[in-house]
Amino acid sequence: MPAATITAVATYLPDQVVSNTDLQRTLDTTDAWITSRTGIRERRRGAPGETTSTMGAHAVSRLLEKRGLAPADVDAIIVATITPDMVFPATACLIQDQVGLSNAWGFDLSAACSGFLYALTTGAQMISSGAHNRVVVVGADLMSAIIDQDDRTTAVLFGDGAGAILLEPADPGYGVIGFQHRVDGSGREDLYMRAGGSLRPASAETVAAGEHYLRQNGRAVFKFAVRRMAECVELVVQQHGYTPADLAMIIPHQANQRILDAATERLGIAPDRMASVLDRYGNTTDATLPLALADVLERGALHRGDLIVFVAVGAGLTSGALLMRWGSGNR
Ligand SMILES: CC(C)(COP(=O)(O)OP(=O)(O)OC[C@H]1O[C@@H](n2cnc3c(N)ncnc32)[C@H](O)[C@@H]1OP(=O)(O)O)[C@@H](O)C(=O)NCCC(=O)NCCS
Repeated sequence: MPAATITAVATYLPDQVVSNTDLQRTLDTTDAWITSRTGIRERRRGAPGETTSTMGAHAVSRLLEKRGLAPADVDAIIVATITPDMVFPATACLIQDQVGLSNAWGFDLSAACSGFLYALTTGAQMISSGAHNRVVVVGADLMSAIIDQDDRTTAVLFGDGAGAILLEPADPGYGVIGFQHRVDGSGREDLYMRAGGSLRPASAETVAAGEHYLRQNGRAVFKFAVRRMAECVELVVQQHGYTPADLAMIIPHQANQRILDAATERLGIAPDRMASVLDRYGNTTDATLPLALADVLERGALHRGDLIVFVAVGAGLTSGALLMRWGSGNR
């Protein structure tokens, strides 16, 4: 069976740019603190009426245009998100309808900041099983919908955005080589949104308590992220007989530049091999991997045949890495 590979990448970002200086006006924070502690300088915020599905649909439309495909050519769509338009139906259904993917089935995947990575792995299995030829994977989050804009410990970190990739069968020697994923639910309270589910259905009381907002134990998540990010990369490369030095590029989840710098140091790789768009977009949760990948491609920093790793950590706690040989073989 063929391996799956990424044959197109597209992104969508809302127009409104929120700089650290903008946040300084309403929060007890400073540009200097945010830049030095996170590496983030600005992030995007969706306009009124903009949702996770509308952002995702823009990204998918651009993706099909780039690859010269019609909406009817797509077999399946997987949407990684923690900010679905509604609890149900799935945002995949909403994007399917907006773009007119008339022959596709699809579903949402919830794994927080590891969601896009898990969806990439899942979509790749659908290709390599022979079941499908074209699977669209979307990572989209309107984080401003679940962030308490008065909480300086989270409001400075997150942004809105979307990205999409197309998975197709690769020629021999290209595409996905393997993956290493783990979940550890014992860390479920390090990063979570308490209300709005079956445990604490939304009510006037939950809203008054701010339980419809994301909350986190920043230090615990930070430590987990630094350790797991390096560990996941090492595990997946070792499993296939490589070392981190063989990697042309690591496309990591974008949470904090200090996490990326620490992982870079632990892996002993050159800093320019750790992709980062944190300064421009902050943490867009499920959109970080396609946004970082698109940036690397735009800069011409990725070439056919390059060995790369996608790596992510997130709420759950979830984590993992995926190794691939970039390109499809014929392009
Ligand atoms: C949230 C995070 C940036 C905080 O950075 P930190 O260096 O760990 O900072 P601390 O939490 O130790 O806080 C240090 C101080 O800065 C303060 N602080 C927190 N946010 C601040 C802000 N935006 N502006 C100014 N001060 C801030 C804290 O209140 C604390 O003050 P105190 O010492 O008086 O209590 C960092 O822990 C982090 O990035 N964690 C991972 C979060 C993450 O990635 N989540 C998503 C995972 S996918």
